[in-house]
Amino acid sequence: MSSIWPRLHMLLDGSVLVTGTSGSDWLLSVLGRTAASAPHHIEHFSKFSPSPLSMKQFLDFGSTNACEKTSFVFLRQELPVRLSNIMKEINLLPKRLLTTPSVQMVQSCLSHLSFKEVFGQDPVTNQNIQYFLDRFYLSRISIRMLINQHTLVFDGATNPVHPNTIGSIDPHCQVAEVVKDAYESARMLCDQYYLSSPDLVLQELNTDNRNQPISIVYVPSHLYHMLFELFKNAMRATIESHKEGSNLPPIQVMVAIGGEDLTVKMSDQGGGVPFRKMENLFSYMYSTAPKPQMDDKHRAPLAGFGYGLPISRLYAKYFQGDLQLYSMEGHGTDAVIHLKALSTDSVERLPVFNKTARRNYEVTQGADDWCVPSREPLDLAVFRLAK
Ligand SMILES: Nc1ncnc2c1ncn2[C@@H]1O[C@H](COP(=O)(O)OP(=O)(O)OP(=O)(O)O)[C@@H](O)[C@H]1O
Ligand SMILES: [Mg+2]
Repeated sequence: MSSIWPRLHMLLDGSVLVTGTSGSDWLLSVLGRTAASAPHHIEHFSKFSPSPLSMKQFLDFGSTNACEKTSFVFLRQELPVRLSNIMKEINLLPKRLLTTPSVQMVQSCLSHLSFKEVFGQDPVTNQNIQYFLDRFYLSRISIRMLINQHTLVFDGATNPVHPNTIGSIDPHCQVAEVVKDAYESARMLCDQYYLSSPDLVLQELNTDNRNQPISIVYVPSHLYHMLFELFKNAMRATIESHKEGSNLPPIQVMVAIGGEDLTVKMSDQGGGVPFRKMENLFSYMYSTAPKPQMDDKHRAPLAGFGYGLPISRLYAKYFQGDLQLYSMEGHGTDAVIHLKALSTDSVERLPVFNKTARRNYEVTQGADDWCVPSREPLDLAVFRLAK
């Protein structure tokens, strides 16, 4: 297929959506194939800025008097705009990447091929790729969110498990319940691999309503994704650092809410990470775990793709939150998810293709403006004054 447009029309056709075309798959292949040709539609739609929606607008679109036609008309403009904005950025990727068959590029992303193998240790290229992937995946999260909301809201059925949800948004998302769900799933996986798993100690701090469970307007599946990834990491670190002992220290999770922030802190005693390595942790494909066996269809891997942290941070950032890691080597790691407590502050954060974005791909590597310490001990004898 030479153009994305037939595909986009299919995408906007409810029947295709309901039957569950995998948004990620077609988007990836379509992006790869059309990057080089950039048809005039992309030129046209990329001139518009994406329109971020607030949580309130999502809820209004899904309320009882919502209009399917209005939603359709909005999506018909907004989806191509979001897609075209990110597609323009593909052309700014390093030439060597673009000249490889684009499908191969996408496949290489997914098949865990390290970009380092392709480009060696080029820090500028690496920075470009990390910058691009953050924006590409955030765009993809947002496109999937729009498609999901439209199909879930207008297919007429209520969610039997969560009847109060509006599309994929829960207006009363009980954070502790999602923590427990994510913990249980990660624990099952951990038990499969290591035949044991650390316990969970969960604490909620609801200062204003002490006896009430903490809840926010949020997408439970996004929160679950972040917590599941953090639990897997915390469990792996805990077990790997307590090989001999049978007494595994528990993973402690604290949930707190204030006037502005909802914060979830997950603390493990898994030995931590050296400070020098901290900035690597959010790099795509950075992993200290062995490469997962893709042929093992019955067992999901506990670690090894190096996608857990960077994608989780994007989910947090999508509604103006963040995800940060603090580590004490020799002890353990705290992973902190910051979300907005108020739905009025939860507005989509979307990449836009403009001069600033373009400039970010044009950075060149200059000389370091800090001295590099010499490895040899300084011979002070040469400075001694002759007598
Ligand atoms: N709580 C933690 N304690 C110690 N190291 C950690 C912790 N969390 C993450 N790391 C380190 O960061 C690396 C990257 O984590 P990330 O979740 O992104 O990828 P992964 O766990 O290796 O693979 P996957 O994508 O399957 O999750 C890990 O391989 C591990 O070395
Ligand atoms: Mg992980």
